[in-house]
Amino acid sequence: MRLFNQHFLRREQDHYQNYGIVKDGKNISWVAITGGSDGIGLAFCHHLAKQGFNILMIGRSESKMTEKLNELKKQYQKIDTYYILADFSKLSHYNDYERIAQRLKQYDVAMLLLNAGYGKPERFDAKENIEVEEAVNLNALHCIYMTKAMLPQIQNRDKKSALLYTSSSLGVLYSPGNIDYCFSKRLTSFLARGIHYELSQTNKVDVMTFEPFGVSSNLVKTKPNSLINSSEYASACALRDLGKEISTFGSISHYFQYWLLIAIGETRRNKMFYNFYTKQFKKEYGQESSSDLSKNNKN
Ligand SMILES: NC(=O)c1ccc[n+]([C@@H]2O[C@H](COP(=O)([O-])OP(=O)(O)OC[C@H]3O[C@@H](n4cnc5c(N)ncnc54)[C@H](OP(=O)(O)O)[C@@H]3O)[C@@H](O)[C@H]2O)c1
Repeated sequence: MRLFNQHFLRREQDHYQNYGIVKDGKNISWVAITGGSDGIGLAFCHHLAKQGFNILMIGRSESKMTEKLNELKKQYQKIDTYYILADFSKLSHYNDYERIAQRLKQYDVAMLLLNAGYGKPERFDAKENIEVEEAVNLNALHCIYMTKAMLPQIQNRDKKSALLYTSSSLGVLYSPGNIDYCFSKRLTSFLARGIHYELSQTNKVDVMTFEPFGVSSNLVKTKPNSLINSSEYASACALRDLGKEISTFGSISHYFQYWLLIAIGETRRNKMFYNFYTKQFKKEYGQESSSDLSKNNKN
């Protein structure tokens, strides 16, 4: 019944009404988003700009953010836009995030979306050490430290705020052949679930972790099909559930994929994931992913 309600009865929510503030007839509230320049994050920006939010992207490519923010401004003329430059794969200290939070203080950040992420499937023993470091920085530490640095600000608004993490189904189910991505996303999923409960005590911040399966984007270049969602649809499903769930896979097809993967059991699932990701590695890099200790010793 709960799932029927979630997927067939629940309607799109007006998040500006939920979290935004209007002052002197003007929408003064912002969505601050990491990874807003492409894929799922850019789709989040479109949905929320349409509802009246000003959009602030935090990301690594100035030209790409400027281009995407200009497009948003053209389409939703009343909104303001801004960006802050940061490459999260290179940031590994809390103070780096405190500096970003200081710059965000002048904005009424009503929704913080920690969405930037990247995964390169490869056997763990074959990965360059720096690649593991960067995966953890980006997929886990950026969410942990950004949350810590921004909590005082988003808890002290005159209205409720929202904290939305884009984790992954691979933060729920681990997959051999891609494990640094899985364990770093797992940190983000656990952070979200834990602070969802802590913050629910004061009812000042809605927290949710979004854990989709395949979504068509710059990261997963497959066209949308019955298994792979479009970025627009996946992000709409996440926004539908924000404030109502602790976590969501998003679309009903992604719930079915989860149940199927649980039903086949851990051994078969591991084999399936491992074969899938090693094949994907070979397709992208034209060689087998294999252990090469001499390569790792150079780092
Ligand atoms: N696509 C899927 O099937 C899928 C499934 C589950 C979870 N996810 C998660 O969904 C999130 C969005 O991914 P996507 O599929 O939309 O991929 P995408 O199209 O590649 O978008 C990723 C976004 O993250 C930004 N980003 C990547 N590395 C960064 C870095 N080092 N510093 C700052 N920003 C960085 C990208 O910026 P640039 O524009 O500069 O590259 C881009 O804006 C990720 O966290 C991903 O792990 C995706």
